[in-house]
Amino acid sequence: MQVKLSVFFTLAMSAAQFVLAQDSTCSGLYAQCGGIVYTGPTCCYDATRELYCDYIDHNYSVCVPTGP
Ligand SMILES: *[C@@H]1O[C@H](CO)[C@@H](O)[C@H](O)[C@H]1NC(C)=O
Repeated sequence: MQVKLSVFFTLAMSAAQFVLAQDSTCSGLYAQCGGIVYTGPTCCYDATRELYCDYIDHNYSVCVPTGP
């Protein structure tokens, strides 16, 4: 019982760390995700909706929601 519990917590913690890492290393809704002088994250992440990186021009790309 004790062993199973610690395995569960180890898995739960690594899953939580993965979600947090994804959250903090990607741009959020309407945040910049690309550009000629931009050095930040080029991926997009939002907890509530799916985002993609929309190319505006070679200086600027922005994270926008997919779909309508
Ligand atoms: C991109 O930025 C450069 C330097 O600021 C500027 O000269 C150029 O007009 C910009 N290009 C576009 C497509 O906005």
